[in-house]
Amino acid sequence: MLQRPRRNRKSEVIRQMVQETHVSAANLIFPLFIIDGVNQKSEVASMPGIFRYSIDNLLREIESCLKLGLNSFDLFPNIAEDLKDKFATESYRDESLYLRAIREVKKNFPEACVITDVAMDPYSSDGHDGIVENGVILNDETLDVLGKMALAHAQSGADIIAPSDMMDGRVGYIRNVLDDNGFTNVSIMSYSAKYASAFYGPFRDALNSAPKFGDKKTYQMNPANQREALIEAELDELEGADFLMVKPALPYLDVIKLIKDNTELPVAAYNVSGEYAMIKAAIQRGWLNEQRAITEVLTSIRRAGATAILTYHAKEVLENKWL
Ligand code: PBG
Repeated sequence: MLQRPRRNRKSEVIRQMVQETHVSAANLIFPLFIIDGVNQKSEVASMPGIFRYSIDNLLREIESCLKLGLNSFDLFPNIAEDLKDKFATESYRDESLYLRAIREVKKNFPEACVITDVAMDPYSSDGHDGIVENGVILNDETLDVLGKMALAHAQSGADIIAPSDMMDGRVGYIRNVLDDNGFTNVSIMSYSAKYASAFYGPFRDALNSAPKFGDKKTYQMNPANQREALIEAELDELEGADFLMVKPALPYLDVIKLIKDNTELPVAAYNVSGEYAMIKAAIQRGWLNEQRAITEVLTSIRRAGATAILTYHAKEVLENKWL
């Protein structure tokens, strides 16, 4: 045998020398859940170790993340049921929980990168990402709400706007609204290929944002489709997106790779709540080694082609020095 691939695996030093993929703190984005009130911190039952924070505790949490070199945060609000309506008006009310949170984070930590989620569902009395009429999700009418929401986020100090709603044309619409209002420097991280996935369950528990009827299949993508992701990615790029995201991550590594191979833009992947829950549940039962399972997951998402990873594991991997 002339070729013996095992030679490059014979020692830790050589294995590290030839390692192709690395995950570093710079690649990680930490999703954080916000609730109203003072000194609140409630654990999400289906996501052990992940909490909903009131703004004061959110600031403490972000401060401890920054000390670990974790600098990027994606914020999600848990909105009281009585503030929800059909048009998600709470999403752009100046004194809303979410806008106050963005302002406080940027005031206290101007160096932190704040990513904001643009979608109606946490504020919608229907629990959908768009305006509902007779059971139908209206596309173009929804864009108006998304534009108002995105503008409010930019005015509050968001660094990156992340539309997660999957309405057609929303990236271009939001880009125009931002530019017309002088926010040419605010970035857009588009959820380009967002699938109608079973893996969002724990997130909807965290925010109490599950759809009140039906499902999201008329706007989120069919898990069976790969090439359709290219249409979404191409449109988002043409409409001015700065990042293209694939979501979920682990069951869609092929989609991450496909989009990566077809764009020059950075690709992001969202290692979602259900992926986190499934790993944690197995770890709690002693069925997986925690450090090895989590670092393997993150490395694999990077290997598939993701530049940035949104993951609930972000803080623990740095706290435990697993990277
Ligand atoms: C809503 C939104 C969802 C997630 C991020 N933004 C859920 C959904 O589409 O129902 C899921 C994130 C996760 O599961 O971790 N627009």
